[in-house]
Amino acid sequence: MVRLGVNVDHVATLREARKGKLPDPIAAAVLAEMAGAHGIVCHLREDRRHIKDKDLYLLKEVVKTHLNMEMAATDEMVNIATEVIPDMVTLVPERRAELTTEGGLDVISNFEYLEDAIRRLRANNIVVSLFIDPEVNQIKAAARVKADYVELHTGNYANADTLNRVADELERIRSMAVAANKLGLGVSAGHGLNYQNVREIATIQQIEELNIGHAIIAKALMVGMERAVKEMLDLMR
Ligand code: PXP
Repeated sequence: MVRLGVNVDHVATLREARKGKLPDPIAAAVLAEMAGAHGIVCHLREDRRHIKDKDLYLLKEVVKTHLNMEMAATDEMVNIATEVIPDMVTLVPERRAELTTEGGLDVISNFEYLEDAIRRLRANNIVVSLFIDPEVNQIKAAARVKADYVELHTGNYANADTLNRVADELERIRSMAVAANKLGLGVSAGHGLNYQNVREIATIQQIEELNIGHAIIAKALMVGMERAVKEMLDLMR
């Protein structure tokens, strides 16, 4: 079965609405794991708008499954990652004005820069994933730059507004998952996945893991984390 990584950033977003202690993303991570999540994901952004450094250190202590840290490929973040040693780092592009990660990394234009960050992370036994758009040239570059995984950006699939576009985007993700797998890369996917659109993506054989945040946290607010995670796992099966 494809694994589920639950992104707890938006628990911290709600906490930061009052700059207090609650709700606690660490508690949310524990509950998600107890409900069957295969991993926890958090994004330490340069502006620290939701997850803080302390959260990351606590998650490293508390998470028993698999901790995936999303971050920009900056010196500051690489230094933090090599101190914390999460199981996996997912390198993402980051712009301060964006509401969420908008597009995939441009591996081709940032090759040397990424190569250096990847080398440092892998030297510390951290598995490195690159969040990229489902495009063949980016996948080839990800293999050349020696990433372990690619996370295929499912945003266009999630935002497709006609059945034809949904089918096209799904086919693009499917064929790019096959291409990445052939080049020896591990494949995951995420962004914008929810209770309505996850099933088809979960049938793609080459995809090992889905990373889902907003939809699960939004549902958990209404029905509780345990039910929110279990319902997602049921759909993925
Ligand atoms: N994967 C990556 C690389 C992301 O940046 C995000 C958003 O933080 C997600 C997955 C999860 O996206 P969503 O919150 O839309 O499920």
